Amino acid sequence: MMEKTFLMVKPDAVQRGLIGTIIARFESKGFKLLAGKLMTISDTLVQKHYAEHQGKPFYADLVSFMTSGPVFAMVWEGEDIIQIARLMMGPTDPKKALPGTIRGDFATRMNRNVIHGSDSAESASREIGLFFDNSELIDW
Ligand code: PPS
Repeated sequence: MMEKTFLMVKPDAVQRGLIGTIIARFESKGFKLLAGKLMTISDTLVQKHYAEHQGKPFYADLVSFMTSGPVFAMVWEGEDIIQIARLMMGPTDPKKALPGTIRGDFATRMNRNVIHGSDSAESASREIGLFFDNSELIDW
């Protein structure tokens, strides 16, 4: 099924110069970039994005990490991209991520895990709407 997903290079990976490497993985796989922007995100936007995790023990650290520097927010399109992108990213905990996955190759710690990707069609639609106006998505 043709789908769109929201992917975000987190501040640790932007700081390490990994934006291009991460984009290349999804381009090489055959997915299509519809939108991308370097941005700093406000507390309010992070709180909306991670609303379901409010109250969890890691929540304050997560908000402070995600606002610590710029992120690179993206919208990608492709067949079954939501599930495939999550496989390419590897598990949330880099200690469980196999080499060959993005987190397996570039991360060691849960709180510096390099990339975010939507986990369902509902999340993708919500997250794309939080970070992008419809007019920013290129139809090509
Ligand atoms: S849960 O409780 O299982 O639903 O949480 P989980 O899916 O594992 O993680 C939710 C998001 O929080 C991030 N996370 C953390 N950030 C900073 N520090 C710590 N300790 C931490 N633990 C989890 C995790 O990467 C998830 O964010 P995304 O952006 O979806 O990767």
